[in-house]
Amino acid sequence: MTLKLQDDSLIVSQAFINGDWVDADSDETLDVSNPATGELISKVSKCGTAETRRMIEAASVAQKSWAKTTVKERAALLRRWFNLIMENQEDLAQLLTAEQGKPLAESRGEIAYGANYVEWFSEESKRVYGDIIPQPSNDKRVMVIKQPVGVVACITPWNFPNAMLTRKIAPAIAAGCAVVCKPANATPLSALALMVLAERAGFPAGLVNILTGRTADIGAEMTSNPLVRKVTFTGSTPVGKQLMAECAATVKRTSMELGGNAPFIVFDDADIDSAVQGAMISKYRNAGQTCVCSNRILVQSSVVEEFTAKFTEAAKQLVLGNGDKEGVTVGPLIDQKAAVGVCEFIDDAVAKGATVVMGGGMSSLGGYFVEPTILANVSRDMRVFSEEIFGPVAPIFTFESEDEAIEMANDTEFGLAAYFYSRDVGRVYRVAEQLEYGIVGINEGIISNEMAPFGGVKESGSGREGSKYGMDDYMDIKYMCVGGIDK
Ligand code: SIN
Repeated sequence: MTLKLQDDSLIVSQAFINGDWVDADSDETLDVSNPATGELISKVSKCGTAETRRMIEAASVAQKSWAKTTVKERAALLRRWFNLIMENQEDLAQLLTAEQGKPLAESRGEIAYGANYVEWFSEESKRVYGDIIPQPSNDKRVMVIKQPVGVVACITPWNFPNAMLTRKIAPAIAAGCAVVCKPANATPLSALALMVLAERAGFPAGLVNILTGRTADIGAEMTSNPLVRKVTFTGSTPVGKQLMAECAATVKRTSMELGGNAPFIVFDDADIDSAVQGAMISKYRNAGQTCVCSNRILVQSSVVEEFTAKFTEAAKQLVLGNGDKEGVTVGPLIDQKAAVGVCEFIDDAVAKGATVVMGGGMSSLGGYFVEPTILANVSRDMRVFSEEIFGPVAPIFTFESEDEAIEMANDTEFGLAAYFYSRDVGRVYRVAEQLEYGIVGINEGIISNEMAPFGGVKESGSGREGSKYGMDDYMDIKYMCVGGIDK
């Protein structure tokens, strides 16, 4: 193992269950490798059903005491965790780049982004208000309180191995829940390092638990065990649907942050330079591997030439390479399957008549590197219109009118993020209100932050993460009716 951190104790391979670091019952392990080099970084425990059941039972016990803590105690614990994450930002970023591939600058950004959710929910824990409701008759009083849902299972993806976990754990802990976590097998080290810091922050045994291993077995136990009262998942729509179906048997609450097919619309009245800047960040961030990445760039025909020329010029400045190298702005994709899959999108479009403006396939760097690509002359029958690309490919579609742009943008089963650029105030409201998406970026390509509600509509999921709404997903509403008040 060549990865060296300032604090090597952040690199762990065991599961964290009930306050102890433990191996899998079978002693089996999974390899974790660097997507930029293929080099083995570490091994982690290959746990299964039995270990999952044990961590759920531990969480269930811990949750009962945790629910009795004051909101000030919860806030203080989360604040200590936040401080430790930020104190270890550089090590956590190095670890993230090594296992996930994104450029170091983006990894540093993700650690701060993830920590922001911890800080935010440490503050929000003090603002879980109930209600007093006017009574229907004078001998009664009607009150509403909010209580923690109980044990929460968090299943997280490889594209943001740090931030997707903190934005689930932090509101759960702030609400008085306990958590059991399963990070993606491709990127478990960032998640395990977060647990090392949670232990140092003083989380009581059993309050946060994590294991790595057999995804299907762990998922099945999490969704079927009656002690788990909520499952929160970030990942693909097909897997989300399967988890929701499994959760139905025990009527668990679910929050699903699923796939996207974001339109990025450039109207003829837009500031084209600013639209180019927004498209660059929203398309090529994390090599195009985010659920909110622009998937379809829709440009009004009168400005398509100018936009394409400027966008291509900007994209030519991207530097593809190993994320730990100075100056690299686009890293590898997560694995071979992903790289091949993204190239198949390009091949499909080209076979149906698309023109390659830039890039066009696997990079000469080899491995899992795909060239930042721009496609013109694309049409709706191509896969890039209807499916999530999850890679550095930008197809540029054209449209003639506002109505056509809205119709094209909404012509998908997904509804996570959409973006548009216009300087016409009336158009800004008309278009924003008609886009069938949970998040709309208006003259802005970066929409994620802990203070805003992140989540989708249609088949992009349910629930919201972050913001003042984010706590509600981890709380049950209880209505209390007090009678016998009149003498
Ligand atoms: C995601 O890709 O699921 C999350 C992206 C973000 O938080 O910006």
